[in-house]
Amino acid sequence: MAGDKITGTLVFTVFTAVLSSFQFGYDIGVINAPQQIIISHYRNVLGISLDDRKATNNYVINTTDTLPTISYPGGPTPGPRPEEETMTSTGLITMLWSLSVSTFAVGGMIASFFGGWLGDKLGRIKALLAANSLSLAGALLMGCAKLGPSHILVIAGRSISGLYCGLISGLVPMYIGEIAPTSLRGALGTLHQLAIVTGILISQIVGLDFILGNHDLWHIMFGLSAVPALLQSLFLIFCPESPRYLYIKLEEEVKAKQSLKRLRGSDDVTKDMNEMKKEKEEASSEKKVSVTKLFTNSSYRTPMIVALMLHMAQQFSGINGIFYYSTSIFQTAGISQPVYATIGVGAINLVFTAVSVLLVEKAGRRSLFLIGMSGMFFCAIFMSVGLVLLDKYAWMSYVSMTAIFLFVSFFEIGPGPIPWFMVAEFFSQGPRPTALALAAFCNWFCNFIIALCFQYIADFCGPYVFFLFAGVVLVFTLFTFFKVPETKGKSFEEIAADFRKKSGSAQQPKAPVEMEFLRDTETV
Ligand code: GLC
Repeated sequence: MAGDKITGTLVFTVFTAVLSSFQFGYDIGVINAPQQIIISHYRNVLGISLDDRKATNNYVINTTDTLPTISYPGGPTPGPRPEEETMTSTGLITMLWSLSVSTFAVGGMIASFFGGWLGDKLGRIKALLAANSLSLAGALLMGCAKLGPSHILVIAGRSISGLYCGLISGLVPMYIGEIAPTSLRGALGTLHQLAIVTGILISQIVGLDFILGNHDLWHIMFGLSAVPALLQSLFLIFCPESPRYLYIKLEEEVKAKQSLKRLRGSDDVTKDMNEMKKEKEEASSEKKVSVTKLFTNSSYRTPMIVALMLHMAQQFSGINGIFYYSTSIFQTAGISQPVYATIGVGAINLVFTAVSVLLVEKAGRRSLFLIGMSGMFFCAIFMSVGLVLLDKYAWMSYVSMTAIFLFVSFFEIGPGPIPWFMVAEFFSQGPRPTALALAAFCNWFCNFIIALCFQYIADFCGPYVFFLFAGVVLVFTLFTFFKVPETKGKSFEEIAADFRKKSGSAQQPKAPVEMEFLRDTETV
């Protein structure tokens, strides 16, 4: 089919778009490896680094370059020249560190609401360009962290990078979904995730202490996220604007055709134009849809709930518990080189996302999501079994490690990439931007909750922690089995009909359903 060719322009444009996703992944991973080094800088800047023993606490925290360990009076004496600080100053440092990590997710949460809006206001290309100014500002602040009050510069930079990532987590899937030919929508959609995991892996590697994760160069590591932003800004000039935005939003038929011709590498773009005409007709009766409408209108409610559940399933599976805390999980599981095991997780993550790219158009979204979730369920059980029995059998550490690797692999086969692009397939032009924004917000919100609570849950449940996640994964797997339709190769009308079927209104004759659909929609 001429329309479904992979052309140079399509490849170049998708590559350019996912440079944003790469930055997103890089920003997720960049903060982990150099944690101790950055903390020691904070201490230096705040003048609370050494021998601050004035307070009358019952215990002090030894904060040498290793992870903090608690030593009690009368307990083993630290080395001859201990670097100690009071709980008060440690509390301050911990708070500053938590802020450095979590303000990223807060920025993401806030901005995720505006990705679709900005894309509609400026067009997809200009919106990405505008977003890049945030990325550059964030990278600049963090890259200069050693020149000033590093804690303030890092926290401010992380918040601004979070805003950037929030914007692009809506914008990139939307832009790719709109330029991809129907039969490649899934495969190209997964590239967003592939670029995210590549970013995570690269940041894990450059974070090794003999590369950039050391006292001299850690700020450069942060500043480096400006490179993809600059490259993308340059490349975007050569990318075609989304034909859907041009035709449906701006009513610029000629420009939309030109853009399609470049993307498809063919003069015959009738198939795409017909599809877009249908969508435009729908959009002109739908107009924009508000958040409230997405829940009150019967045509949107089910797909919206399913969309949110998919994102909740992705985050509440506990995947970021692994990404944020894998080193300490591996330590607990008795692995001798936890940092390298973490990089192993990053590599496995990348390999299986690539597998998903290859499989998604053959196996379908629903089946891959289900396979991934079911696999994660069993792995989570093995992870906990390994931790519980570690005291009895030392070899259980290998069971836990293998289970973690497989858990991540199953995640990337389906639950990782699929929610990011499947939601765009649930909705036509009218409700799509709001639905995507809401879904991205939900993702960030759940991400934030996990980032905040995982350690507490882990402390509370001990080695049983992954049994809890197994239970959660099981619930979401059952939900997917009963409520999520397959969207592979289907038009929006067919997908909408599947949703009606799943919510039990399949028996209605076609015409009245369509009329109800039109009547229910309204301009906001
Ligand atoms: C998905 C998730 C993100 C996670 C990543 C791991 O993109 O949305 O939170 O860190 O997968 O690969």
